This record gives sequence, structure tokens and C-alpha cells, in this order.
Amino acid sequence: MAMIVGGVGTTHVPSIGKAIAEKKHNDPYWKPFFKGFDYVHYWLARTRPDVAVVFYNDHGLNFFLDKLPTFAVGAADEYRSEDEGWGIPVSRPIPGDAALSWHLINALVADEFDVTMCQDMLIDHAVTIPMALMWPGPVWPVRIVPIEINTVQHPLPTLGRCLKLGRSIGRAIESYPQDLRVMVVGTGGLSHQLDGTRAGFINKDFDALCLEKIVSEPEALTRYSVHDWVSLSGSQGVEFLNWIAMRGAMTGRVSELHRNYHIPISNTAAATVVYDNQRQMQRKAA
Ligand code: DHB
Ligand code: FE
Repeated sequence: MAMIVGGVGTTHVPSIGKAIAEKKHNDPYWKPFFKGFDYVHYWLARTRPDVAVVFYNDHGLNFFLDKLPTFAVGAADEYRSEDEGWGIPVSRPIPGDAALSWHLINALVADEFDVTMCQDMLIDHAVTIPMALMWPGPVWPVRIVPIEINTVQHPLPTLGRCLKLGRSIGRAIESYPQDLRVMVVGTGGLSHQLDGTRAGFINKDFDALCLEKIVSEPEALTRYSVHDWVSLSGSQGVEFLNWIAMRGAMTGRVSELHRNYHIPISNTAAATVVYDNQRQMQRKAA
């Protein structure tokens, strides 16, 4: 059976792609951020996932404001990216796992999540930057299942709904008959606002609260409305919806193995976390 080996949360700021291309890892501006990935690399080398289920938000590459699904699941054998205009190199294509995708889609629909199914789906910086951060070498040794959550065009799904989506995914992964090691990823966040008079807004105290509660008591975060979230975390801080779905997918006993929090990367409070997911002890046969 498939098992969920743990989770990673990371920002997806596009300028990271430029810093990687220009090898700025040891620049004073970038070093405190990139150093936060040393542990991620160690954990990935030790944990060896086969598949990454990636909760992310599309920023206008595959979906646009004219048609924007609340939840969409990729079901392709390969995902390509394209130039989004950030001036960063276009990512290599990433292999998919269409059989696992269909298993997840079937389970989600059975759980009454009406998702958009995408057999052809472009992935943007919200997937490709985390991949490049997690696996800095020439090979990305996982297949992916990208799961898009709308954080762009209001009304957005609630935190509670995204937690439930994650839980449904977690149960579905664990009912998949193949022996796969699956990691879950949540990208974006934490607090940031790119537009309007509050552009540059960051809320360190609220981020700290989120990083505590997401491990120990994710339900506590669901009492915040999306509008509360915009005021506390910024208009793009709502990308935390991807993180809470990632947390929901971890169905075991979750603990924080690693946390790096650095302000700012571009306009964003950049958090990098690794969570362990200990499977609950199987009940002994009577
Ligand atoms: C930035 C942050 C984002 O989440 C994004 O999608 C694009 C840009 C930034 O801080 O520059
Ligand atoms: Fe973003």
C-alpha cells in the first residue's frame, strides 16, 4: 500500500529561480533562505519519496480569471511549464503519475469534492520553484500529482474546506494498492501582499502562530475566514490554503522536524518546514 512519508511547506517566490540561475546561494541576501533547505535535502535523501502530491495555486499560466476552478487535479503523464514573464529559466518538464491521479480524483468525487480533472495542465512557478529548491541537482527523482487550489479569484475556498480536501487526499493515498512512498507539499505563503496600498505587508506574529497551530491544532486555524486571513496575512498570504491542505493530507501523528523562517524574500515572509507523518500503530489483532 502507498504510505505518506511526510510533508514539506515552502514559499514559491519567482525571484528564487533567478537566484538559482545566477548561483547566488551564498549571497548575504539569499544565504539565510537557501541554508534552510540543507535539512530538506537531508530528509529527502533519507526518505526517498517516489511521488510528490503538490498543493499549489495557479497564477494565470494554466487558468485565468475567466475560468478558475476552486480545486483542480492534474491527471497527466507529464507537466510542462512556460515562460510566465518573470525573467527566470523555463523549468524542465516533470513526470506525472496518471494512475495515482485518477485514484485520487475518484476518491475526492466519492467524498463529494467536485474537482476539475486536467489531463493537460501547465504548471507555474508555484510548482517549479519548490521542485528546484527541494532537488537542486539535474534530476528531480519523483513523479508529481499537482493539485490546484484557487487563491486568486474570490470567493476562495475556506480553510476548513481545504483541510478537508487534504484529509480526503490523505485517506485516498493510503488506500492506493501500490507500494509507493508519497510526500505532500504545500507551496506559497506565508504572509505577503503584492498589490495595493499595503504592498509589502508582512505579519511575523501571525506567521509564528500559523506555524505552531498547523502542526498541533490545524482545526484552530479554520475559525479564521478568508477575509480575516487577507487582513492578517495579506492578499497573497491566502496561499496558506495550500499549506493547510498539505497538513490535512498527513493522517498520522505529525511533528515538525525542521523550520526556517526568513524575512523577506522579495515581498514575502519565506517559511520552509519539514513535517514527519508517523503512521498510527496498527491495532493488534485480538
Ligand atoms: C512573490 C510572491 C508570490 O507568492 C508570487 O506568486 C509571486 C511573487 C514575491 O514576493 O515577489
Ligand atoms: Fe504566489
